[in-house]
Amino acid sequence: MVKVAVLGATGYTALELLKILLRHPEVEIVAVTSRQDGSPPISSVHPSLVGRLDLALEDLSPEEVGKRADCVFGCLPHCASAEILPRVLAAGAKVVDFSADYRLDDAATYLEWYGHEHPDAARLGNTVYGLPELFREQIRGARLVANPGCYSTSAILPLAPLLRAGLIERDDIIVDSKSGVSGAGRQPKLMTHFPECNESMSAYNVGRHRHTPEIEQVIGRFAGTAPMVIFTPQLAPMDRGILSTIYAKPKGTLTEAAVMACLREAYAGERFVRVVDHLPGTKDTVDTNFCDVTARIVRGRVLLISCLDNLVKGASGAAVQNFNCLHGFPESTGML
Ligand SMILES: NC(=O)c1ccc[n+]([C@@H]2O[C@H](COP(=O)([O-])OP(=O)(O)OC[C@H]3O[C@@H](n4cnc5c(N)ncnc54)[C@H](OP(=O)(O)O)[C@@H]3O)[C@@H](O)[C@H]2O)c1
Repeated sequence: MVKVAVLGATGYTALELLKILLRHPEVEIVAVTSRQDGSPPISSVHPSLVGRLDLALEDLSPEEVGKRADCVFGCLPHCASAEILPRVLAAGAKVVDFSADYRLDDAATYLEWYGHEHPDAARLGNTVYGLPELFREQIRGARLVANPGCYSTSAILPLAPLLRAGLIERDDIIVDSKSGVSGAGRQPKLMTHFPECNESMSAYNVGRHRHTPEIEQVIGRFAGTAPMVIFTPQLAPMDRGILSTIYAKPKGTLTEAAVMACLREAYAGERFVRVVDHLPGTKDTVDTNFCDVTARIVRGRVLLISCLDNLVKGASGAAVQNFNCLHGFPESTGML
């Protein structure tokens, strides 16, 4: 059994993670942390865990967590993560980090997009990006895995095979994404307050969303050099799910059949990427670890459409895939 701990256990991604871990035959959950006073039972903040997980939330030091657990899932906001996780690693545990802190390769890009110096800059560029479908071999030998952003996964999975095959131009890519409100986490904010977002859709962080450099960096590994991406996130009035529509310019003449064949070949044998003929919708993937992808050619442009559940394939499901890779378990262990 692998002893695991979850940091930031009161949040949305942590709840999804705990539900998956409770089904995992090789896992013992030994600690769930929160800064809350009084060590309340975790089921008092996540009532869906009543009768399923009998643990108290604890405000543990990173050293204590790293000693108690073999593997630690960091479900913390960025910045807090890079302050805490180096101490967990130093105490001996492996780590899967949900935050953006270890996704980018260089400190200058981090400073530009996150607005503060990275607290643990030496690890940037030396941390594996946790998208098993693309980087499985590197994940297997890692001690720290940077779990991808939810929007990023929905863009990278369809784009990477086409860039690797040289089928599309790298400097003419538009990613238009809609996300459910849980993508913003459990902390109340004006934008995610019910009367603000219910029955309404709006774009936000136009031209400056932090998943932009992450998408560019990762697909750049398949394009030869970093592409330029226009990424426009929008908030959709639903709890969970991401739908991304991606527009790219083909190199020369390209048929729909050729694009679909490229995607099918890339993900043949992959349990969690489904290349589908129909136009997928978020409800097809909600509560699952699937990312559904399809392609069309419209007026000479390639359209890629993908969807996933931001809390599962966009966060906790991917994290368990990474955990399984780290420990040599079949990648779908614990997942439906
Ligand atoms: N939501 C998504 O769809 C999604 C998808 C992919 C990745 N992520 C990333 O995953 C991480 C967790 O996201 P989430 O949506 O679960 O967030 P969340 O619901 O806001 O939960 C984060 C938890 O971290 C704890 N926390 C907050 N600030 C902290 C600090 N300064 N130091 C220590 N603990 C702190 C809080 O617990 P206490 O107040 O109880 O201590 C909070 O419940 C974030 O980095 C997020 O960007 C989220």
